[in-house]
Amino acid sequence: MSSSPSPLSVAPMIQWTTPSYRYLFRSISLTPLLYTEMITSHHLLNRYTRTSDLPWLFEHPHVPNVAVQLGGGGPSETLEDFITSADLCITNGTYTELNINSGCPASKAQKSHCGLKHMLRTSRIPFQGLLKELSRRFDHRVKLSVKHRIGVYPDVCGVDNLLDYVRTVHEAGIKKVIVHSRIGVLGGMSTGENRNVPPLVYGVVERVKREFGGVEVVVNGGITCWREVEGFLGGGYGGVRGGPGGLEGEKSIYGTLDDWGLEGDGGIVGGAPVDGVMIGRKAYNDVGFFWDADSRFCGRPDQNFTWSKITSDYCSTMEDRVPSIGLVECVKPLHNIFCGQRRNKEYKRKVDKEVNEWKKEKRRIDNGGVGRVETVAEVMEKCFEVVDCMGMTVGESRELIMTDK
Ligand SMILES: Cc1cc2nc3c(=O)[nH]c(=O)nc-3n(C[C@H](O)[C@H](O)[C@H](O)COP(=O)(O)O)c2cc1C
Repeated sequence: MSSSPSPLSVAPMIQWTTPSYRYLFRSISLTPLLYTEMITSHHLLNRYTRTSDLPWLFEHPHVPNVAVQLGGGGPSETLEDFITSADLCITNGTYTELNINSGCPASKAQKSHCGLKHMLRTSRIPFQGLLKELSRRFDHRVKLSVKHRIGVYPDVCGVDNLLDYVRTVHEAGIKKVIVHSRIGVLGGMSTGENRNVPPLVYGVVERVKREFGGVEVVVNGGITCWREVEGFLGGGYGGVRGGPGGLEGEKSIYGTLDDWGLEGDGGIVGGAPVDGVMIGRKAYNDVGFFWDADSRFCGRPDQNFTWSKITSDYCSTMEDRVPSIGLVECVKPLHNIFCGQRRNKEYKRKVDKEVNEWKKEKRRIDNGGVGRVETVAEVMEKCFEVVDCMGMTVGESRELIMTDK
């Protein structure tokens, strides 16, 4: 691994940033920090009693530099429950960071008094007390961080509330925050809409960095190209993007530019460069995008393997996992690898078709039929025939698509 840590990270995404995805990602790029899906303490404490039962803790030795994200448990969870589940992750995993989810708007998270409830300060376990205890117990063992939104509509709105919240987190001993640059909306907006509808208020994240120079600040939300990443790391990128009307005019329900301490163009005066950039959906939908991330941001050679090498290594590693997680989960991360390539749609259709055939055949054999089910490699080989970039390195295949330049 590089001695200079990458400023890049891949966001925690439930059912997407699985151990299999993380394994595949590492064949493309070694340096970005990868987050697990969110694990709830309730699951950890109630469903899994042995380390071998902990699917999230599966980490192949090939996949270093992973952060685990922990969310709150059920409504009756105690502080000690949360600490025990944190300890379980830190002791049994090889994680470099423990992240606390303070930004999830899902109704399940609200019922469990976690996610955005922490920002509202209505969580069952008082948030600052929880963070203080985590710091006291684990700060010497693992880096601790909090991932949150810029606010919660309508109660925690505007720059002053955000700065106040970050102060609470910092005073509890947390030295890293990841800020999803959208306000979270509770009630009347689905989790998916919460990732797309509220405007991205980037300028206020740069303001957080300016106010809390000693805190590592990572910006997240809607970032899909290196020009933007470099803009954030260079400072003064700022601005407001998207959402119905952004923050312009009286009609914005998410507050005005003034509420967020922003200038007329959505920028801020003296915005500080942030320390890192977290990429979510782009990293899942187009993993090849990261092919030159190691050289760009850490000055180390890119792996730049051929697709043929990446996929044959991936398929043979997944073979052992089929009995525990099933073929569908094993091949899921392969669905999007040819994003932007010729015949990508055809390839995806072929994957779906072959996986269905495999399931049917397996059912037949499980019911006493004669034969053997195909391996992951055998199933996927038929799909890879559809595209024409298997012999190319990831870099060479990227030359053929120009969307991320
Ligand atoms: C399928 C999916 C699952 C997600 N699961 C989580 C999660 O477990 N924890 C979390 O903090 N955020 C989760 N998120 C939010 C992302 O971490 C990220 O903040 C959000 O997608 C914005 O970044 P992006 O625009 O780069 O995708 C999820 C997002 C998606 C699309």
